[in-house]
Amino acid sequence: MGRLQAKTVLVFGAGSVGDGWGNGKAAAVAYSREGGRVACVDIDVAAAEATVAIIRSEGGEALALSADVTCAAQIATVVRRVMDHWGRIDVLHNNVGMNLPGGVAEATEEGWKRVFDVNLTSVFLTCKAVLPQMVRQGTGAIVNVSSLASIRWTGYPYVSYCASKAGLNQLTRSIAIEYAARGIRANVILPGLIDTPHVAKQIGGYHSDAEDMRRKRAAMVPMKHQGDGWDIAWASVFLASDQAKFITGVELPVDGGQSCTVGGSI
Ligand SMILES: NC(=O)c1ccc[n+]([C@@H]2O[C@H](COP(=O)([O-])OP(=O)(O)OC[C@H]3O[C@@H](n4cnc5c(N)ncnc54)[C@H](O)[C@@H]3O)[C@@H](O)[C@H]2O)c1
Repeated sequence: MGRLQAKTVLVFGAGSVGDGWGNGKAAAVAYSREGGRVACVDIDVAAAEATVAIIRSEGGEALALSADVTCAAQIATVVRRVMDHWGRIDVLHNNVGMNLPGGVAEATEEGWKRVFDVNLTSVFLTCKAVLPQMVRQGTGAIVNVSSLASIRWTGYPYVSYCASKAGLNQLTRSIAIEYAARGIRANVILPGLIDTPHVAKQIGGYHSDAEDMRRKRAAMVPMKHQGDGWDIAWASVFLASDQAKFITGVELPVDGGQSCTVGGSI
């Protein structure tokens, strides 16, 4: 439909940690399918290249770049490369996130800091690097990927994840309001239970096997099934596009209704 025609999109975490469609990989491809030029950034450059290969095989335009989102210097290099290549950045999509198991008693201070670095400081750093360019352009859209765990107990004890993602929600709202009059929007997506390679790796340990995990997660959702990377991707495309031109500072749950429940469903 060309909702991102002539726009340049910068996706951090555009690969996937396993086979199949993660949220970031699907979002990068969806942005391209809507006409965007996509810079695919990942700490694992082979993962970024795999996404770029898909985009190019569909006739899209994409660039694979490597950076660790916890490193300001690497982010600055990426932004410079994108500016040299395409001369503008219309959309910044922050997908990278990690979790470590444990409530307050089990979590370590070191782990807490690492999760905050990867989930929250990273977005501060990418926004700090990109916002000056968006201000110069007088336009821009930021899409951050948080989690339903930022506002609800989702059944897993991972305190640093929940707290860092809650911080990401408020960081997004702060940016949205501070930059609203300058043509820049910022919104945050709260994925619910999404069936991605990331989940299998990060929380598989809470379940006896992959099928047990799928069954139990599906049972928690009012729709009785998990979402997939494309559900996050198409929500991102909408928020990044001009169709959402009057939407900023919004937390959008993409969760099959789970955020509306008090823990049960019929
Ligand atoms: N799947 C779910 O159920 C679910 C639910 C809620 C929120 N989320 C959120 O979705 C996002 C992850 O989605 P995904 O499926 O694309 O996951 P993913 O783990 O496959 O991540 C995508 C890419 O991020 C890269 N990455 C990891 N650390 C990085 C770093 N420091 N710098 C740069 N790149 C890095 C990985 O190499 C990977 O290729 C996270 O923010 C996560 O919190 C997922």
